[in-house]
Amino acid sequence: MTMKMIMDLDTGVDDALALAYALSFEEVELISVTTSFGNVTLENATKNTINLLDLLGHSHIPVFEGASSPWGETSYEPQPHLLRIHGENGIGNVDLGEPQRQPSKQCAVDFIIESANKFGKELILYTAGPMNNLADAIKKDKEAIEKIGKIVSMGGALTVPGNVSPYAEANIHRDPKSAQYVFDSDIPMTLVGLDVTLKTMIKGTDISSWHPIGTTASDAMVELANYYYTNEFDDADIGGAMHDPLAVEVALNPSIVTQSTKINLKVETKGEAKGRTIGNLDLLNRQFKSMTVCLDVDSVLFTQRFIERMQHVLSHGD
Ligand code: BDR
Ligand code: CA
Repeated sequence: MTMKMIMDLDTGVDDALALAYALSFEEVELISVTTSFGNVTLENATKNTINLLDLLGHSHIPVFEGASSPWGETSYEPQPHLLRIHGENGIGNVDLGEPQRQPSKQCAVDFIIESANKFGKELILYTAGPMNNLADAIKKDKEAIEKIGKIVSMGGALTVPGNVSPYAEANIHRDPKSAQYVFDSDIPMTLVGLDVTLKTMIKGTDISSWHPIGTTASDAMVELANYYYTNEFDDADIGGAMHDPLAVEVALNPSIVTQSTKINLKVETKGEAKGRTIGNLDLLNRQFKSMTVCLDVDSVLFTQRFIERMQHVLSHGD
């Protein structure tokens, strides 16, 4: 049985790296990418996704557009710190030109529902942006989404401070109401948050092994990864966190997780702690726990595997 996967991305730099990394797993078929606002506008997320798939030699994989703004809002502009971390265009200011194809006409939510009904347990849904598309899909057809084999999301922070505020991780902070809706649905999912992604930092020395590959794809990835690791934190020596690539690893190779906890979560939707993911007091004694939150991973093994697998992916093409 070949597993199928949908990736839901707000295509910034670590989403781009996650996309390339996912393509290195031949045992899983990436059937589409759905896009969302987040690191960039929806329009730029779609443009970056199409360009990256084409650059990586996967122009047959369709792209479906999703949400353009958070639940309860009608517009979205990426904040200045995002332009610093991911570059003005979301992919480290690497110019991949105008996309040579259009996104599919069907919307992301309908495609996710259709795929859930078609593939059921064989489908992995991976999200690495705000949870808006997933929330909309649950709202429209919860029964269909319940059929999905595995849902893995990059988001949240349980045991560490946030990255956009002392409390909140960016993907949840950008659209806390949709995340709350997803958590309230009680659909089981795995959360790959800052607790583990901040343990997977890469720096120039890691990226340098991609330099000699010399393909158009490797040159672009080297440039965008170098941009990101020097800009995610004020001090470039910290490196860049492989948030979204680690979530791919957890989805496709769960044994990388060395510690996790089962918990019912809630999200603070307003105020100073907006976006905070925390245990749901009302459900503390309920036996069923909908979330599996990753607390520790074998970060050395992951980083090594990530760098090596990327070498293979980036070797294809000219
Ligand atoms: C998450 O937020 C986005 O900026 C990144 O792509 C990642 O998905 C990290 O908090
Ligand atoms: Ca992301």
